[in-house]
Amino acid sequence: MKRGVVVHGGAGSPRNLSDGPANAATAAMNLLRKGGRAVDASAEATRVMEDDDRFNAGTGSVLRLDGNAYMDAAVMDSEENCGVVAYLTRTKNPVLVARKVMESPHVFLAADGAVDFARENGFDDYDPRTPKSRKRLEKGSDDFRKGSRPEWPRNWKNYKVDTVGAVAMDGMGRFAAAGSTGGTFPALKGRVGDIAMIGCGIFAGPEGAVAATGIGEEIIRKVLSKTVYDYMCNGLSAQEAADKGVSLYDRSVSIGIISINSVGVGIASTTDMASHQLTE
Ligand code: GLY
Repeated sequence: MKRGVVVHGGAGSPRNLSDGPANAATAAMNLLRKGGRAVDASAEATRVMEDDDRFNAGTGSVLRLDGNAYMDAAVMDSEENCGVVAYLTRTKNPVLVARKVMESPHVFLAADGAVDFARENGFDDYDPRTPKSRKRLEKGSDDFRKGSRPEWPRNWKNYKVDTVGAVAMDGMGRFAAAGSTGGTFPALKGRVGDIAMIGCGIFAGPEGAVAATGIGEEIIRKVLSKTVYDYMCNGLSAQEAADKGVSLYDRSVSIGIISINSVGVGIASTTDMASHQLTE
């Protein structure tokens, strides 16, 4: 395999939305064909997904119970560079801010500091809320008030997740992963999910790259992306590693994994998951 990209629209996203990941994978592959780096291809694919308001990242992110979107995004490459933003508000493309953080002296910026950093780097004030995300909040809040809130802490069946993410390999054999999310719905103000934690939502190293999606709390407990990466290091194919990662969970837990190494790609999930792969 000379180069490749895999994009997902989140665990739980209907397969009939796969045109979204397909558009994102095409944009990333075009960049790779021009000699672009894996890290920029994975960020570009994730940016396209953030701009597609059918998915829970960037525009169209789910809203917290206080009515705001608090977004997490991350990028990592196989040369141990990473950039993360957590709890970012009022910004169009969190993954591009994370890409900028990668070039700063830090790897992780959160909340107001991340917003200040975004503005200083040319990312304008932007409201990512949509009529659909506001409607979902209204209905969810009503359900909460009526007492039909899913039981805490681990009955996840009624939770909305569908993070977006991408993994890529470029023509130089470098790997990268990127992810972006509005988090889960419903969630308390202050909650941060797996995408903000390197090794949980995404991981990349010299042997490949992995991006996970689903219930962040469950992904964090198993440091899932690094766990799946280690499976590839121990000789499993990208598909076998993704399958084994998903098999760590009960089928009732919404989880998805995409992976890539130098010979192939993997896609696995416990639920429907819109996704697309391009390799050559
Ligand atoms: N996987 C996204 C989140 O739980 O925040």
